[in-house]
Amino acid sequence: MCGIFAYLNYLTPKSRQEVLDLLVTGLKRLEYRGYDSTGVAIDSLDNKDIIMVKRTGKVKVLEDAIQEHFSGDDYSEPVLNHVGIAHTRWATHGVPCERNSHPQRSDDGNSFVVVHNGIITNYNDVKTFLAKKGYEFESDTDTEVFAKLVHHLWKKHPNYSFRELVEQAIQQVEGAFAIAVKSKHFPGECVASRRSSPLLVAIKTRTRLAGDHIPILYGKDDKKQSSDQDADSGKAVVLPRSDSTAEFMPLEEKEVEYFFASDASAVIEHTNRVIYLEDDDVAAVRDGTLSIHRLKKSLDDPHAREITTLKMEIQQIMKGNYDYFMQKEIFEQPESVVNTMRGRVRFDGTTIVLGGIKDYIPEIKRCRRLMLIGCGTSYHSAVATRQLLEELTELPVMVELASDFLDRNTPIFRDDVCFFISQSGETADTLMALRYCKQRGALIVGITNTVGSSICRESHCGVHINAGPEIGVASTKAYTSQFISLVMFALVMSEDRLSLQQRRLEILQALSKLADQIREVLKLDSKVQELAKDLYQHKSLLIMGRGYNFATCLEGALKVKELTYMHSEGIMAGELKHGPLALVDDSMPVLMIVLRDPVYVKCMNALQQVTSRKGCPVIICEEGDEETKAFSSRHLEIPRTVDCLQGILTVIPMQLLSYHIAVLRGCDVDCPRNLAKSVTVE
Ligand code: F6R
Repeated sequence: MCGIFAYLNYLTPKSRQEVLDLLVTGLKRLEYRGYDSTGVAIDSLDNKDIIMVKRTGKVKVLEDAIQEHFSGDDYSEPVLNHVGIAHTRWATHGVPCERNSHPQRSDDGNSFVVVHNGIITNYNDVKTFLAKKGYEFESDTDTEVFAKLVHHLWKKHPNYSFRELVEQAIQQVEGAFAIAVKSKHFPGECVASRRSSPLLVAIKTRTRLAGDHIPILYGKDDKKQSSDQDADSGKAVVLPRSDSTAEFMPLEEKEVEYFFASDASAVIEHTNRVIYLEDDDVAAVRDGTLSIHRLKKSLDDPHAREITTLKMEIQQIMKGNYDYFMQKEIFEQPESVVNTMRGRVRFDGTTIVLGGIKDYIPEIKRCRRLMLIGCGTSYHSAVATRQLLEELTELPVMVELASDFLDRNTPIFRDDVCFFISQSGETADTLMALRYCKQRGALIVGITNTVGSSICRESHCGVHINAGPEIGVASTKAYTSQFISLVMFALVMSEDRLSLQQRRLEILQALSKLADQIREVLKLDSKVQELAKDLYQHKSLLIMGRGYNFATCLEGALKVKELTYMHSEGIMAGELKHGPLALVDDSMPVLMIVLRDPVYVKCMNALQQVTSRKGCPVIICEEGDEETKAFSSRHLEIPRTVDCLQGILTVIPMQLLSYHIAVLRGCDVDCPRNLAKSVTVE
């Protein structure tokens, strides 16, 4: 998904070269989001023009191009106030190429340049309008219309401030966007805004800020709106004029640096003080002062945007000794699962406290049903825990893919409790489904890994999974932490059920051993790597299991597909006879999960069906289970745990397997082709 990074220094001298280095590093931190092209814009040496460098491919390609383009002493001259904007693009409108890369510009003279994440859905209408005004378009992007619209407004309203121009422009566009705009007519200023796509402002000062929040300035609803009549179409493009009289937020000290970024990983090495912008906020920096403006005040608006102190450490987003972020994140799971439980589960007793939802538990207990909604891996965490939730809450539990849920216009009622599970907290389908359920009066519970994300903010209550930053596009540690968060929720719901105490105790004990057991499973790494050598040249891999392990089959197949580009399918072992068995022969790679749980006999039955068709499956079984191991020469043994937590231990060999196959096939492990970390478009 596109990534935005912008940097502004004020009275903190920085050379253009340093600004460019900052921009490139910012883009590198956003690389994990997935992208196909990149670009930057800074001021020319005489400050009269804006220079853009854009490239298709990786940030490294852009970095080399920048080095070639900007060399010589002049670029190392310090400048007191400067704005640079940068972008990683994930193509939605127009193929990846330099012409379509961002920044997009308003005109030949680069009056206004824009970086954008999201989709402007009415861009065709705006384009038609602007074409009639004489604008010629040079890219296939929706973003270009925004740059040209700001330019058009500037020509029409020469006295407007930069912030007002952007504010007017965002009134005209529909869809999802996060934007940062730079202009040669407003040197040293930057304006940014968002609607449905994430954007934050980070602040770095030498001294303390005047407060821990930025007051919001509201424009008056203008009675005398200016309108821009398109005579030919008869369509009026109404431009409501904002008319704020409020002062900008004063800072104690003027030396300041600002960063605008799609997420915190791009800014954390500079500062931990950030403001998450809300939909339709317009953040503007002028003379080193940040103001956040909204055109209209709505009833539930707070008066200020809080400055959040990030707890993330830079080390958390660095690869350390690992070759890939994904590998690091797989191996972090003994710690990340403990972090998910930290301060919540008391292993010496039976109490679990989920601070973010504890006040809502009585209401949740009275609900009609629980709905768990997510996409991809997050959806699989719901599949993995559904059975336990049904058992411990004694409520009907529906598990839904967000996109399908929306397609069906699923009936939702006031007494439904809807869980939205999302690592990024920004997935468009999940967010849309959340808004759909919220409008219908359901209680909204967010299960996210990203503090300050849209899903986090728009939920009534929630559980932060505390897995730490996940950079690899393929979700790994977030899955196990989502899984545990939902298990903890089930335990909270059953706290006062006498008949369930034994079961709860058994699960709590298993949770206390989980980190060590994950460490044991991770020791299988070299064995899994050998297995990967057997499998990586095949075209397909079938993964079979049932009961608590069906989710591992789905998740394992998803990992294999996205990382290795091999076909893979998670098959419910109970369905084998109803079709998939026809795929099995002596050459089809099959992996089967057969653990000593209530469905063991049925799994053994499936195993026999496979081996009797000359299938030679890899078996994931429990340590020392000789009877099961006898069915194949290839097995991975995992420690015994309670049935409902097995899925956490069985998914790890699948994560390792997909990782090793991807490495062997020469795939880009952290950024698989065509995928993005944060899918902020539907
Ligand atoms: C697969 C993967 C995706 C995400 C999905 C939802 O490895 O990462 O399937 O799980 O795009 O993303 P979030 O959890 O951010 O809502």
